[in-house]
Order: sequence, then C-alpha cells, then structure tokens
Amino acid sequence: MSQGNMKIVATDSFVLSDAERHEIEHEIGHYPDARAASIEALKIVQKHRGWVPDGAITPVAAMLGIPPPDLEGVATFYSLIFRHPVGRHVVKVCDSISCHLTGYEELRDAFVAALGVRLGETTRDGRFTLLPICCLGACDRGACVMIDDDLHGPVDPAQVKQLLEPYA
Ligand code: FES
Repeated sequence: MSQGNMKIVATDSFVLSDAERHEIEHEIGHYPDARAASIEALKIVQKHRGWVPDGAITPVAAMLGIPPPDLEGVATFYSLIFRHPVGRHVVKVCDSISCHLTGYEELRDAFVAALGVRLGETTRDGRFTLLPICCLGACDRGACVMIDDDLHGPVDPAQVKQLLEPYA
C-alpha cells in the first residue's frame, strides 16, 4: 500500500530518504499486493546504505502495509539482505552440497588467507566482507563464489588473489 508523499518516520531517528521512498513506491506499483515487493524494498534500502539497519524495518513495513515482524522475517531469512554494516564488496562463498563436493573448503580457506579475515568478518580497510551463503543456483559451476553481483565459478583456490584484484 502506497503512502503517497507522506513522510515516514520511525523510531531510532531513522528516516527513509526521498530517493528510497520514491524507489520503493515505484516498486510497489509493480505488484497487485504490496507485500510482494518486500525483498525489492529491502534491496533498495541496502543499495543506498550498504545494509539494512533495524530502524528501516518499521517505515518500510508501513509503506508495504504489513506488520514490521513480517518484514523482519523476510529480512532475516533472505541471506542477500545484510543486517550489519559490510565492506565495500561482499564475497559470498557457497557452502551448499554441490560446492562442498567440488572444493568449498579449499576455496573458503583461500579467501580466508587472502583477506586475513574469518567468515562473517570485514577486512580492516573496509574493502571486503567474507560470508558463507547457501546455494547460488550455479551448482554446475562449483566451487563458486559471488562477489557483489558477480558470479564466479568454478574457482581454483590458486586464482583467488587475482579474482579479488578488480574490486577496489
Ligand atoms: S551448491 Fe553451490 S551453487 Fe549450488
């Protein structure tokens, strides 16, 4: 449900920007049921801020016309929505079954060594966050990894440093 031009203000002093509101309203317009725009609305906030703060849930839920806990559930379930600040680039290493069978552990270890962080951590310079992720839908390309929106696979662990170079 669109809220028109009404300013949406939430607790914790969180306010959606005009650009975020306009983009979310536009997205809602694509669906007969605004609830269906939940993931895209969260992605819009993430695009603008790099992650989805807790304070965003209530105003976005208000725009969608759904209870905040429902949107919180979507945000928590969907692994590509980040609920904590992340680095400029997010490296997501697939840890599901096909990639496990085709070298996940070696690939994970190569990223851990190259970045100097463990899974779930961000490099000190804020350049990369390293995360595990469930199946990327590219099981025939395991072991695979997604860096930002780029899918790479199969990735040879020896290629990891080279793979990271373009992501400044
Ligand atoms: S198991 Fe890794 S992409 Fe499907």
